[in-house]
Amino acid sequence: MQTLSQSLKQSGINDELAKLITVLANTSKDISQAVRHGALAGVLGVAGTENVQGEDQKKLDVITNDMLKDALAAQGSVKALASEEEDEIVPLSKDGQFLVCFDPLDGSSNIDINSLVGTIFSVLPAPSGDVSEQSFLQSGRKQVAAGYVLYGPSTMLALTTGKGVQLYTLDPVSGDYLLTVDGVQISKDTGEFAINMSNQRFWEPGMQAYIADLIKGKEGPRGKNFNMRWIAAMVGDVHRVLCRGGLFTYPTDTKDPKKPFKLRLMYEANPMAFLVEQAGGKASTGYETILDVAPSEIHQRVAVILGSANEVDACLGYHK
Ligand code: AHG
Ligand code: MN
Ligand code: MN
Repeated sequence: MQTLSQSLKQSGINDELAKLITVLANTSKDISQAVRHGALAGVLGVAGTENVQGEDQKKLDVITNDMLKDALAAQGSVKALASEEEDEIVPLSKDGQFLVCFDPLDGSSNIDINSLVGTIFSVLPAPSGDVSEQSFLQSGRKQVAAGYVLYGPSTMLALTTGKGVQLYTLDPVSGDYLLTVDGVQISKDTGEFAINMSNQRFWEPGMQAYIADLIKGKEGPRGKNFNMRWIAAMVGDVHRVLCRGGLFTYPTDTKDPKKPFKLRLMYEANPMAFLVEQAGGKASTGYETILDVAPSEIHQRVAVILGSANEVDACLGYHK
């Protein structure tokens, strides 16, 4: 099996980008250790602080954010970073050619129940001149790399640099990421969907009608039975979609009128949409392709509907 460094070399991407991906991958190995030690290392529970989005930070949100920030600061090619856990962008190396956006720990409500969590990252080209929040406001199409690391029974890295999607598994013996699936393809059709059903009454009429038809199963308009899964960590739900197809959505809702969407564009929706498209799937807000959304601020949220191409189309049919 190829190691990550062998496969990056073979992919022909530029050296600087390969080095940056290697730093992200190496840091994720340390994060994997911190997550694995859990209560033994005293890293569970809340940090007693809130992030800019008003969410309680877990200790591990803060620890993993600092690990990534330190690693990228030392790297030299990153002009600035944006993180779920940082109010503002963090300028790093003046002449850096990349901008990195990340969710250091996705699914952090799963930490205290020893369930799936992950790290999501997106790499953009850095415009020349002084760096500011404006430098980050590029559409997801501009991403030069994106991926996630899933800290599950095995630690896995899903990566795209625009040449398909590769899945690597962390070998606990050698400490290397080894290429275990090359050219991930999401099945066009699926019988599985993922949505937080408890928000049903707050969805738009189109989403209400779509899910109602799925639940009608064989006797309904879709003519087949559907199964439902919800991991409560996008990283786990998207991983399942990459492995065996499915539709994952966190749609628009009216639960909190000030917050119609849950997932963040720059470090959740865009990197996942890049992976999904590279694996032959689709990713939409319901009205627009996620990768074409013009961002207006780094912590902006969007509705997300992604996964098996034909099922995403079926869902979008209810949004017209
Ligand atoms: P984060 O832990 O980074 O704040 O993200 C959590 C997100 C996402 O990963 C997941 O799909 C969703 O929140 C879960 O939402 P519910 O709490 O509504 O299940
Ligand atoms: Mn998240
Ligand atoms: Mn997070």
